[in-house]
Amino acid sequence: MDGHIGLKKIGSHASISEIDDFDLSRLLDKPRLNIERQRSFDERSLSELSIGLARGGMDNYDTYSPGVRSGFDTPASSTRNSFEPHPMVADAWESLRKSLVHFRGQPVGTIAAVDHQAEEVLNYDQVFVRDFVPSALAFLMNGEPDIVKNFLLKTLHLQGWEKRVDRFKLGEGVMPASFKVLHDPVRKTDTLIADFGESAIGRVAPVDSGFWWIILLRAYTKSTGDLSLAESPDCQKGMKLILTLCLSEGFDTFPTLLCADGCCMIDRRMGIYGYPIEIQALFFMALRCALSMLKQDDAEGKECVERIVKRLHALSYHMRSYFWLDFQQLNDIYRYKTEEYSHTAVNKFNVIPDSIPEWVFDFMPTRGGYFIGNVSPARMDFRWFALGNCVAILSSLATPEQSMAIMDLIEARWDELVGEMPLKISYPAIESHEWRIVTGCDPKNTRWSYHNGGSWPVLLWLVTAACIKTGRPQIARRAIELAESRLLKDGWPEYYDGKLGRYIGKQARKYQTWSIAGYLVAKMMLEDPSHLGMISLEEDKQMKPVIKRSSSWTC
Ligand code: GLC
Repeated sequence: MDGHIGLKKIGSHASISEIDDFDLSRLLDKPRLNIERQRSFDERSLSELSIGLARGGMDNYDTYSPGVRSGFDTPASSTRNSFEPHPMVADAWESLRKSLVHFRGQPVGTIAAVDHQAEEVLNYDQVFVRDFVPSALAFLMNGEPDIVKNFLLKTLHLQGWEKRVDRFKLGEGVMPASFKVLHDPVRKTDTLIADFGESAIGRVAPVDSGFWWIILLRAYTKSTGDLSLAESPDCQKGMKLILTLCLSEGFDTFPTLLCADGCCMIDRRMGIYGYPIEIQALFFMALRCALSMLKQDDAEGKECVERIVKRLHALSYHMRSYFWLDFQQLNDIYRYKTEEYSHTAVNKFNVIPDSIPEWVFDFMPTRGGYFIGNVSPARMDFRWFALGNCVAILSSLATPEQSMAIMDLIEARWDELVGEMPLKISYPAIESHEWRIVTGCDPKNTRWSYHNGGSWPVLLWLVTAACIKTGRPQIARRAIELAESRLLKDGWPEYYDGKLGRYIGKQARKYQTWSIAGYLVAKMMLEDPSHLGMISLEEDKQMKPVIKRSSSWTC
């Protein structure tokens, strides 16, 4: 699929069409008029899918007769399909369509929650950039790319606004966290209002928005085959502006991106400041996506690509070496000497073994591993964060062995990470004194709630994608079954609480759009795994792993 995207071809000008050897769009496009139901995942031999990693790639996906539009019972396709989809699917599509936001008659996004109570009180009537991603993927997979294109163009336009917080002017490349359309029924006008962090609770910076925007631009391009959008001067400029923010030189000693707390899906103080895994994984993925789309027909384009390539090398080395934790690595850290000076230091960040929390010794299986939450001087945040680890698999920031190990961990620690509702956003929860210090006594982020060990159905699409990529669809199927037993009945909550994710979240909104869209995307991908190509990048052989540590990596 993406085998030729990226580092290999950067020496010369390469347009998207030249780089993408596996053009999913051609496959997706063709059968639209005459939809024939594809063999479901169940009917295909699983070995067809699972051998991908063993063969060192995902090229086996093109052995399907792939890429027909998902055969789910959507308003657009119900009459053409003969098989029975899960009854929740139709309901989900109906709710998703209720969340549509229009600007001058065109759909441009989906609001965060269709819960009317929520609309009145909070900001859930906004189109959040990160929240729209699963909706966008659902529409792309269902052969409705226009809304995605409109969204990409509208947000690009918003990027061009002058942005201020008090008297401080924000960087040119910053993408909004969210926007909203104000309809004036009298004057018959639509006005856009955007938030770049200046209205958000806590004035948090949406660092992830720009990355998701680039990732979505590639998904749109892959799925439609419409190169004209990504190649347009406006989109090229938008990408460069986003990346300029991240690639500029400073005082950094690491290639990872330094962030304030609350800079991503976890948009409240949760002790993720520093180098949070979610941002590092998204940064890596956005860099790789941009590399496949940036034109190099002038000096500026060439320079940008060069900087991306250098950063990707350094970033993958850093993440794979220092963020990776498995049984062996944990044992090494446990025995670390401290206060080492010079290049020969083993304990480079001077991590004090006493700072390793008790829980991690029990949590770590003999087989399995994961990217920890954060690494900086004398600080390792050993918590598990689902989004960052799934994106690491999808972007191939994780090596194939590491990807397998992450899936091993999910299986081995199913109760902790999945429990009764997929998927824990973070593990474990922080409580008592630590909660007071880390969250600043946040009553929404009490232990096992919300961002603090809560379970978020939206993460289902990410884990499903990761499962398909690693050839473990049965794990996804188990997770989806759990979601199906409750989600509709409970009114598609935003999140669940408790150690097992058993209770509807304390302040969870109902009819949360990304819970609905996440479910649909998970279902459509399992039904037609070729959809994975939109949001997955194959391993780049030039970024070979630098360390081999764990015997757990052998499957
Ligand atoms: C919460 C989530 C955030 C999401 C927003 C809208 O603030 O933490 O990730 O974008 O709700 O759903």
